[in-house]
Order: sequence, then C-alpha cells, then structure tokens
Amino acid sequence: MKNTVATFLEAKQKGNKISMLTAYDYSTAKLIDSCGINSILIGDSLGMVCLGYKDTLSVTMSDMLHHTKAVTKGVENALVVADMPFMSYTNEVDAVKNAGRLIKEGQAQAVKLEGGASVAAQVKAIVKAQIPVMGHIGLTPQSINMFGGFKVQGKTTDAAKKLIEDAKILEEAGAFSIVLECIPAELAKLITESVTIPTIGIGAGSHCDGQVLVYQDMLSMFSGFKPKFVKEYANLGELMKDAFIKYDREVKDGIFPDEKYTFKIDQDILTKLY
Ligand code: KIV
Repeated sequence: MKNTVATFLEAKQKGNKISMLTAYDYSTAKLIDSCGINSILIGDSLGMVCLGYKDTLSVTMSDMLHHTKAVTKGVENALVVADMPFMSYTNEVDAVKNAGRLIKEGQAQAVKLEGGASVAAQVKAIVKAQIPVMGHIGLTPQSINMFGGFKVQGKTTDAAKKLIEDAKILEEAGAFSIVLECIPAELAKLITESVTIPTIGIGAGSHCDGQVLVYQDMLSMFSGFKPKFVKEYANLGELMKDAFIKYDREVKDGIFPDEKYTFKIDQDILTKLY
C-alpha cells in the first residue's frame, strides 16, 4: 500500500508506529521499499555517508537532486522525503523554488527542512505551493557551527520549552510531521503529546510516533562517527570487507574466475583464429 502524508497522520491517530530509513541510491531504495518500511528519506547525511564530506553543510541542490532521482525510481510504496540542503531555504522564494525542484525533477513526495520558528514562513510558503513539509528540530546538523558539535539538545528548561514551542509552530505552519533528533526521551514524549502530527525520532527515545535511522549506521557500513542511539541490526561493513579481501586474494592467486564464471567458444572457430 502506498504511504502518503494522509497515512502518516492516520498512523498517529491509530497509535501505529511509523518506520523510516534513509536511502541514497536506486538499488538500496528498492530493497528498503520491498520490506514494508513506511518512508524513505534522502537525507543530506548523503554528504557524509556517500560523498565523503566532513559534515552536511557542503551538500548542494544538485547533489540532492541527483540522488533523489535515483531513489524515487526504486520506490513504489514508501513515502519519499527529500532533504532541503543548507542555504537552499533562507527565504520563502528560494524555499518554494528548491522544494519544487525536489518534487518536480526528483519526484519526491515531500521535503524536509531544519529549524522551528525561524523557518515557519518558509514552511508555510512551501505548503501553500502544495508541497508537504517534514520539520526537523533538536540536533539539526546544518546548525553544527552554532551548536559547537553534535550534542544532545533541549537539556535546559529554556531549551526544552523552545523545542515544544517550535514543534507547535511547525504544526501551525502546516508541516505534516516533525523529526526530533537527539533530545531526551521524556522531552520527545512531551512534544509528541503536544502536536497532532507525527513525530519521527532519531536519538529521541521510544515515545515518538515513528523512528528514522541512517541505513549505513544501522548496518555498520560507515566507519566514521557512531552515535549512541544507533542500534546495529547487521554488520554489513565486516561482511563486505571479508568479501572484498577474499576477492582480492582469489584474483591475485588466479582462483577467480574459474570455469563456472567463464564463457566458451566453439572449438572449430577457435582453431581458425590461430
Ligand atoms: O540527513 C539525514 O539523514 C537526516 C536524518 C538523520 C533524520 O536528517
């Protein structure tokens, strides 16, 4: 069944949890989609896990469009959400134009952008253009230079109140859901109870309406920084390395390819070639 913005809202009303994973290419998106995951995010984490950037700040619209196009070709049922990169939504005009490109050229069904009250006008403008928006508050990686590092957010009374307020403002601006990243579980619970739209947690505990993870993190494929909230569902990184080492050895020892992996030619034709 096709997941839509409406099914997201319905899930919250019925108390059904929403699953979301990131994807950045066609074949991974196809695999994830075939497993019943509700939503696929082309996150700007793309920059770090696929493109080798040190953070998400260098990700461009052209990076996002390139990977969004690949992902959407592989998806039938998941709701596809594309991240708006840093500096692509600093005003309402740019926000609508760039969100429009992710939908029109990338074929995503919704966009995600970071921030609360500070981006409410942009969220309103994008929604007015008939594009669903997912908000993202808490640890918003595009603000890394303001935060001074990847730190748990909302730990003081003022900061926690601000996050609750931001969530309400995003709902009022028309967002259909909100990612809560790296905040204490009890605060995520309060936020989740304060809005009628679903919250999708990452490092925000079990009370959120859904969960999202970067797929390379949960499969231990990314050897960079591993946050505390990432559960390892499989160690594909080790499996891949074992396979690459075995291949290297077999090529160098002349073991691969053997007969099984080789094409034959008719002997008569072959003799005429000598
Ligand atoms: O870029 C991303 O992958 C994200 C998720 C971690 C929520 O924003």
